[in-house]
Amino acid sequence: MILPLPSAKFPVLLGEDVIRQRINELAADIATQYSGKKITSLTVLEGASYFSRDLRERLANRGADVVNYDITAKSYVGTSSTGVVQVSGVDGEIRGADVLVIEDIIDTGRTMAAVTEQLRHAGASSVRICSLLDKPSRRLDGLRGLRPDFCAFTVDDLFVIGYGLDFNGQYRDLRDICIYR
Ligand code: IMP
Ligand code: MG
Repeated sequence: MILPLPSAKFPVLLGEDVIRQRINELAADIATQYSGKKITSLTVLEGASYFSRDLRERLANRGADVVNYDITAKSYVGTSSTGVVQVSGVDGEIRGADVLVIEDIIDTGRTMAAVTEQLRHAGASSVRICSLLDKPSRRLDGLRGLRPDFCAFTVDDLFVIGYGLDFNGQYRDLRDICIYR
């Protein structure tokens, strides 16, 4: 499905082996915490699509019961957040569900705040966030308490691309997570 491009043009922040290893650990942690429960994962397209697929494959290998739906949440143009978040795809399957939101990166926190609020509104019985990356130094003042329940890596205030993360639609297919500069 993914035809990885070489990352040569950009400095590598997290290489594919490091990413793979960390996702194995995350899957083990998630499978343990949801033991005996069905997980309703909501993958935030498009950035989290590769991460989510790899994570769900590992969860399935551990016997976890996962049903996935894709949602979209748009807030970004170029390298700066616009402040307005449009969420779509959250529908009737949510009531009573144990929802795991799978996101690529938490930056200001606006997207995850908007998504989790909609999910609570839709009657989810629990809502947890699993983010590939977290940039806590970028969090808006009012959203400092917003933290992922599961997170692969914390990163500094850098714009990153690859492994699903894009810059205006480009570079998602890089196999490593790289610094855009
Ligand atoms: P937030 O709403 O400010 O937390 O932004 C979250 C969204 O912005 C993420 O889901 C990404 O799509 C995008 N984003 C934030 N930082 C980066 C980055 O460094 N690279 C690529 N996309 C980013
Ligand atoms: Mg995103």
